[in-house]
Amino acid sequence: MFFLNHLALVAASLLAGSVNAYTSQTFTWKNVRIGGGGGFVPGIVFNPTTKGLAYARTDIGGAYRLNADDTWTPLTDFANNTNWHDWGIDALATDPVETNRLYLAVGMYTIDWDPNVGSILRSTDQGATFSETKLPFKVGGNMPGRGVGERLSVDPNENSILYFGARSGNGLWKSTDYGVTWAKVTSFTWPGTYVQDASSEYTADPVGIAWVTFDSTSGTKGTATPRIFVGVVDVGESVFKSEDGGSTWAWVSGEPQLGFLPHKGVLSPAEKTLYISYANGAGPYDGTNGTLHKYNISTGVWTDISPTSLASTNYGYGGLSVDLQKPGTLMVAALNDWWPDELIFRSNDSGATWSPIWAWTSYPNQDLYDVSAAPWLFDTTSTDQFIKRGRLYGTGATIYGGHDLLKWDTVHNVTLKSLATGIEETAALALLTPPGGPPLLSAVGDIGGFYHSSLDTAPTQAFHNPTYGTTRDLDYAGNTPADIVRSGDSDTDIKIALSSDFGATWSADYGASTTTGSGKVAYSADGDTVLLMSGTNGTLVSQYTGTFTAVSTLPSGAAIASDKRNNTVFYGGSAGRISSIYVSTDTAKTFAKTVALGSSTAVNQIRVNPTVAGDVWASTDTGLFHSLDYGKTFTQISTSTGPTVGYSFVSLALGAGSTTSAYPVLYGFFTISGTTSLFKSEDTGATWAIISDAAHGFGAASSNVVGADISTYGRVFAGTNGRGIFYGSPS
Ligand SMILES: *[C@@H]1O[C@H](CO)[C@@H](O)[C@H](O)[C@H]1NC(C)=O
Ligand SMILES: *[C@@H]1O[C@H](CO)[C@@H](O)[C@H](O)[C@H]1NC(C)=O
Ligand SMILES: *[C@@H]1O[C@H](CO)[C@@H](O)[C@H](O)[C@H]1NC(C)=O
Ligand SMILES: *[C@@H]1O[C@H](CO)[C@@H](O)[C@H](O)[C@H]1NC(C)=O
Ligand SMILES: *[C@@H]1O[C@H](CO)[C@@H](O)[C@H](O)[C@H]1NC(C)=O
Ligand SMILES: *[C@@H]1O[C@H](CO)[C@@H](O)[C@H](O)[C@H]1NC(C)=O
Ligand SMILES: *[C@@H]1O[C@H](CO)[C@@H](O)[C@H](O)[C@H]1NC(C)=O
Repeated sequence: MFFLNHLALVAASLLAGSVNAYTSQTFTWKNVRIGGGGGFVPGIVFNPTTKGLAYARTDIGGAYRLNADDTWTPLTDFANNTNWHDWGIDALATDPVETNRLYLAVGMYTIDWDPNVGSILRSTDQGATFSETKLPFKVGGNMPGRGVGERLSVDPNENSILYFGARSGNGLWKSTDYGVTWAKVTSFTWPGTYVQDASSEYTADPVGIAWVTFDSTSGTKGTATPRIFVGVVDVGESVFKSEDGGSTWAWVSGEPQLGFLPHKGVLSPAEKTLYISYANGAGPYDGTNGTLHKYNISTGVWTDISPTSLASTNYGYGGLSVDLQKPGTLMVAALNDWWPDELIFRSNDSGATWSPIWAWTSYPNQDLYDVSAAPWLFDTTSTDQFIKRGRLYGTGATIYGGHDLLKWDTVHNVTLKSLATGIEETAALALLTPPGGPPLLSAVGDIGGFYHSSLDTAPTQAFHNPTYGTTRDLDYAGNTPADIVRSGDSDTDIKIALSSDFGATWSADYGASTTTGSGKVAYSADGDTVLLMSGTNGTLVSQYTGTFTAVSTLPSGAAIASDKRNNTVFYGGSAGRISSIYVSTDTAKTFAKTVALGSSTAVNQIRVNPTVAGDVWASTDTGLFHSLDYGKTFTQISTSTGPTVGYSFVSLALGAGSTTSAYPVLYGFFTISGTTSLFKSEDTGATWAIISDAAHGFGAASSNVVGADISTYGRVFAGTNGRGIFYGSPS
């Protein structure tokens, strides 16, 4: 009787989720150094009171704090599969009074791509730790117009007061208790109606309120600032103010109505003047016209101080910064001067005259840029510009900065170098460690991918010849591992490339034409055959770099892999009402369906044991399956002690076992006992340990990629969607 009761208690606690089937192991995690950021930095915010205290916010990779040595410390690496949207930072505010206080408005999308409401994260220790208040609406760190702002602001006279300007028509919100609770400002009736493009869901959501700027000079320390300006993303009346601490609001009369959107509203307190940059697009990619205006608060006079005349401009204005120590000195960045390069203008007479950072007479101007911290940054692919106190500006690819800006007004030749060390903002799509080769090859979104001769120093160049904006996939030939295949996106080049020196140098695979679409690739063990799951052309195969031909026996969209020891064998896994495994024994010319995997409806990934032919793993929407007979039969790994879900991107990798005789270690993003995270197994899937932790959550499991080193025990890679690539090993 006692025994039965005890069993019942165990069952009850399992149901309650209080017993985990897995253990945990502490890993030491570091970023693989790519350097230079690699992604869009929509905002850099300096604390106006504490010298050198600054933060950067990114659209999909979280927030960072600037260190004294110009490196950056990530602040939001706790984000995991449950709170992945915390990496979308739509606004950031640093408290000018209690300068250790920091606030982030977080959330990724305001449309249904992100089911979560947004939050205000608040910190009292410069972002070392945060508390959270969920908002009753979504926040869109990766939505259109993410470079406007800041839409979150702390009252400089009474710093318990904050305002937040929402997207999606949700209006203006206020907190009077340091961001703990929030209420809508019902007297503010201009939520912003502008949408970037009504024809798609993503661009059809109103950008909302752009910025909230307190006029610190209108109040006294300890009481709420009376005069507050709010910029709204609207083509009509768009700048509003309150004179009574936010009780009542009115349009700022005289505002020019040119159909432009106010991107930034920056106060120059000593001049009692508000500077406003306008553009005819919300950004980051649009903007072909615009102005810079100043509003003289004392006189109520608006003045157009645009560096370029309305008649001849081909860009709007975005990033805007005033020098608080030298009133009248300000800088503004063009949004977007795509060719030949972005423009920054500087004025030291309140905008009466301007000096551009470069002019056609000094073309080519690239010698202004020093990219030694990220040598692969061969050019600026700037999308939007943000400058602050003339020291840093963020672009679509990196943050550039320098320490000798005052030279601008004398010899003009200022340093503009990549100052983004510590910011790793890439999205990894595939990670590969070919045995005997470099520690890592990476396929990365937007900036191509890299041959990493070291994990701790920035690579000298991205993959080139052919050069892909986004690299989709990489594979190596198991029996000749220096042979690598790569596929990626290009408007002009062939989208498949081959290397015979571990990825150091490449040539186009002329079996493909420039119209052959990129996709997942699998390389035969002898390097003779490339199987391509093209995003636009379905399943294609090429042998001896012959013409790619369709493979009708493997469904389009199937997961693919090559055997790493047997030259003729390839594997496929399809999605459907019931998923199926397909095997080819004739170098991918034909595939035969072998078996369905339990009740799974999607084979998300197939991985093979790199050292043993016919040893195959399949990660599916219902867990993990293993075959030792070339995919003829599979056994499911127990769902009570192992995975119940394997994720849809690149969820599985096999790395070196602990001894030469040991089976490889399995690493993957799985759900085990209801917890979704990064796990490993050292006993062929019998038992599992969680290896992520509270400080390293890796964001959304379904967009992550895993890599492992089959030669180095314990070496695992976690590639994220926006926070770069981490490498870890047992502590
Ligand atoms: C995910 O993060 C949240 C908040 O930091 C934490 O409570 C939770 O335990 C984390 N989950 C995992 C699996 O680490
Ligand atoms: C604002 O207007 C006053 C009065 O005309 C003038 O003295 C002052 O220079 C103006 N400020 C700026 C920044 O133009
Ligand atoms: C910019 O917009 C203004 C106002 O609508 C217009 O007058 C001007 O011609 C435009 N500039 C260009 C180069 O199109
Ligand atoms: C203001 O800037 C101009 C142009 O860069 C420069 O010639 C002038 O010396 C500067 N004036 C001061 C006071 O720095
Ligand atoms: C700018 O300064 C750098 C370093 O001081 C120098 O190498 C470069 O030639 C200068 N460029 C111009 C155009 O004067
Ligand atoms: C791939 O698809 C593109 C676009 O649909 C088409 O132009 C091209 O001919 C196709 N190529 C092959 C090899 O099927
Ligand atoms: C490769 O696999 C095929 C199909 O399973 C088998 O017939 C062949 O013997 C294998 N080759 C080697 C070298 O093991």
